[in-house]
Amino acid sequence: MEFRVEPVEASATWALRQAVLRPHEALEQVARSDADDDGERIGTFAALAPDGEVVGSVRIAPGRPPSAVGELGTGAGGQWRLRGMAVRQDVRNLGIGTAVLARALRHVEERGGGLVWCNARVTAVALYRRAGFVVHGEVWVDPDIGPHIVMWQVIESAPSATAPSTTMQSGTGSVTT
Ligand SMILES: CC(C)(COP(=O)(O)OP(=O)(O)OC[C@H]1O[C@@H](n2cnc3c(N)ncnc32)[C@H](O)[C@@H]1OP(=O)(O)O)[C@@H](O)C(=O)NCCC(=O)NCCS
Repeated sequence: MEFRVEPVEASATWALRQAVLRPHEALEQVARSDADDDGERIGTFAALAPDGEVVGSVRIAPGRPPSAVGELGTGAGGQWRLRGMAVRQDVRNLGIGTAVLARALRHVEERGGGLVWCNARVTAVALYRRAGFVVHGEVWVDPDIGPHIVMWQVIESAPSATAPSTTMQSGTGSVTT
């Protein structure tokens, strides 16, 4: 399946995120969780089908990690929380999740790098590992959505934040900068 990854307004991702990640919550609660994020350094990215439908999402925003993770390394660019990783069920295992995750990490790289952490569902640990994350601490169970574990990595700053744009091919999709 063809897809492209682009920055989008957070609201474009709410329906997918609610359906995939928070079916026990109303759409308004998903929207409210974004309102807590801080400032202009936030990135929201979507994988878009050729007809423009949002089939994948990720959100990256400045966010303090659980303290023990912070002690492992903070990175020069600060601390970032990754969340909202969701891919529509019928288009999984095609590389879309990997592509949106890579785009979110590039967002951090272009803003000076830093510690990136997430509360990973244990079913997604392999995907995050492939992208460079390591686990921290023990698995805990969210009563609504199941077992999770903290994962993190330090992203270095890009050599030059003003480097020219490039286009990366990724599986059957493309990630346009
Ligand atoms: C986790 C999630 C976002 C992954 O999205 P995805 O688009 O399926 O991810 P990818 O396709 O990049 O990778 C998934 C698998 O497909 C495989 N894959 C990737 N590209 C592929 C391709 N071109 N051909 C065949 N297989 C491929 C990968 O090896 C990977 O295997 P593994 O993770 O089981 O080891 C998706 O499953 C999802 O939305 N799950 C429910 C919500 C959730 O758990 N979100 C994470 C919250 S922390």
